[in-house]
Amino acid sequence: MTRPTALVTGASSGIGTEFAVQLAAVGHRLVLVARDEARLRALADRLGGDDHAEVLVADLADPASRLVVERRLAEPGDRPPVDLLVNNAGYGTAGEFVDTDLDVLAANHEVNVTTVLRLTRVALPGMIDRGHGGVINVSSVAGFLPGRGSVYGAGKAYVTMLSQNLAGVLGGTGVHVMALCPGFVKTEFHQRFGRARSGPGFAWMEADRVVRDALADFAKGRPVSIPSPLYKTIVVAARLAPPRLVHAVARRTASGRG
Ligand SMILES: NC(=O)c1ccc[n+]([C@@H]2O[C@H](COP(=O)([O-])OP(=O)(O)OC[C@H]3O[C@@H](n4cnc5c(N)ncnc54)[C@H](OP(=O)(O)O)[C@@H]3O)[C@@H](O)[C@H]2O)c1
Repeated sequence: MTRPTALVTGASSGIGTEFAVQLAAVGHRLVLVARDEARLRALADRLGGDDHAEVLVADLADPASRLVVERRLAEPGDRPPVDLLVNNAGYGTAGEFVDTDLDVLAANHEVNVTTVLRLTRVALPGMIDRGHGGVINVSSVAGFLPGRGSVYGAGKAYVTMLSQNLAGVLGGTGVHVMALCPGFVKTEFHQRFGRARSGPGFAWMEADRVVRDALADFAKGRPVSIPSPLYKTIVVAARLAPPRLVHAVARRTASGRG
């Protein structure tokens, strides 16, 4: 039997590296995508070298650079087709919407939203034709909490809803789509936009646990994965509480958003 192939964006760090490691451990070949070529090559070596991991260097904020990834998904040629796409690359921006440079906001939207839309759209037809495959879109609990940050939570709300919609539409095709919505995870995410890790220690999860829970939920066919009872409770409470209260609480904790 041929080994399945998984393409992971943002594989150079944090949750993406953990997806690559755990998927390799259960027999996947990997296609590793990010900007930092040295880190991707080091990870490819760790996973066993060229037979086990391809490296695709791409800036997902740049449509021309991103085309390399779109082509790898849509037209694999003599390379193995991608069975599992993990849209994981993403980042937050500091500052309020009206104070943040338009190009900074647009680049963030390109990576966190447009890339998820485009890569999912180009990957799905081949998976549907083959009758199997899947997409895991790394979203966030921030997508359930209005008032957190400027565009980050809005983008994640889109990613969660897109994934849920596709999970419903694709029922019976053999292809599954799931949104992974973590809370705070110990990665480089916060330091990249100058945020200290805030809040109680128990709220911070390890990336390996998040990915383990996500892969278990994906195997069960769940449309949304929210790792840990704490964050499941927060999401349910946010849905039940009056919107003005959710907004006020979320704004008070927005400095540590994840
Ligand atoms: N950590 C949290 O608390 C948390 C909570 C909820 C959701 N999330 C989500 O989890 C996902 C992974 O984040 P993380 O926590 O693992 O953060 P991280 O350690 O900072 O990793 C982010 C990854 O995204 C890649 N990336 C960023 N901009 C890119 C670009 N323009 N082109 C290509 N790749 C790019 C980075 O690679 P290069 O720099 O090499 O390009 C890196 O591999 C994100 O979607 C994030 O929104 C994180």
